[in-house]
Amino acid sequence: MARGRFNSKFAAVMAMAGSAVGLGNIWRFPYMVGEHGGAAFIIVYIACCLLVSLPIFFAESIIGKSTRTDTFGALETLAPKGRHVGYIAILASFIILSFYSVVGGWSFNYLIRSLGASFDGLGISEAKEVFASVGSSPVESVSCMLVFLGLTAMIVVAGVDKGIGRFSKISIPVLFVMVVIIAGVSLSLPGAEKGVEYLVRPDFGKLDGPAIAAALGQSFFSLSLGVGCILTYSSYMKEEDSVLQAGGWTALFDTLFAIIAGFAIMPAVFAAGIEPAAGPSLVFETLPVIFSRMGVVLPIIFFLAILIAALSSSISMLEVVVAWMVDRKGIARKYAVLIVFAAAAVLGGICATIPSVFGACDFISSNVLMMIGALGFALIVGWKMPREEVLSLVRSPFIYRLIRYVTPIMIIAIAVTNLL
Ligand code: PHE
Repeated sequence: MARGRFNSKFAAVMAMAGSAVGLGNIWRFPYMVGEHGGAAFIIVYIACCLLVSLPIFFAESIIGKSTRTDTFGALETLAPKGRHVGYIAILASFIILSFYSVVGGWSFNYLIRSLGASFDGLGISEAKEVFASVGSSPVESVSCMLVFLGLTAMIVVAGVDKGIGRFSKISIPVLFVMVVIIAGVSLSLPGAEKGVEYLVRPDFGKLDGPAIAAALGQSFFSLSLGVGCILTYSSYMKEEDSVLQAGGWTALFDTLFAIIAGFAIMPAVFAAGIEPAAGPSLVFETLPVIFSRMGVVLPIIFFLAILIAALSSSISMLEVVVAWMVDRKGIARKYAVLIVFAAAAVLGGICATIPSVFGACDFISSNVLMMIGALGFALIVGWKMPREEVLSLVRSPFIYRLIRYVTPIMIIAIAVTNLL
């Protein structure tokens, strides 16, 4: 079966950045920064990215680019005994796709609501009721989840360059502009300084072990590592495009986006005199109320931004599974997309209606499966592949040593801390 390919470096980098920029940047990062010491946490986060997550990114990318096949096939080629790790990564991608689609569905639901100006004049307690009713209505949450999954499938079915590449090239720059606009409005509000202070005031006293583990875990999830997304996208890169540049740009873009999202969200939260929070309650209860006080347009921009951020991540998860079916099983792309869509709709439907299943899927994929995948990728590149081959792609003995020694130890450390 003919493989797809990104026709330009820009398309490949925007697709990888799209996978990386997602809900993790919007609903976890800003809160974590505030809770764990502001600028001090940002410094540690950047160090974790450079010393641990980026080398894992390079490892995944090297595997994809040198084997030019799907996640399972790549591991089978490089380390036949470790090939089952490929299945674990593909399974993780599928599980994340299923529960991520539920949240994507909520974003779609809220975009429609904001187009109808339905948050106008709402208080926080009423917003909480709206969110509870959206979450507890199976018809509403399942149908919105299906719309989101359907949009994801439509992009992926159009192909690597014409679907994923084209969507990312347009939507990621637009997404960036949208958060910058929201940050501009948010920073201009009276009382915004308190939010800025929350984000930047360095408090090195708060940098304890759990804060460092949190920074590592977040940089890991945020760069979409360990589930085959970066591997698969790298297998579609042009021969002359550099793994180092793709990784560097993606990490830079992902981190910048997370920091700007912090400035879009926290100043507005503090200006409204509300306690900061994280997760769904921040995005679906607090922010619609705050943003709708500034007119009808801001909530529309905000939910459109979340929808695009979620879609650009979900297409990368779907592509991991589709690539495996196309490359290994010889199934035509459109049928592969249809099969994965149907399977994810079933698991997503269960996640949308049973909160404990949603939580279990999130926990197992991010704390167990992702870690096994990342460890496998790092060990294969550090210990299985010929050193010269790795060096020909990363051109730095220092990065090679990071992949070989530092990343496996750090992955085990984060996994143990998260599971304790
Ligand atoms: N990086 C995405 C985010 O920050 C999540 C993600 C995880 C995407 C794994 C793809 C694979 O939300």
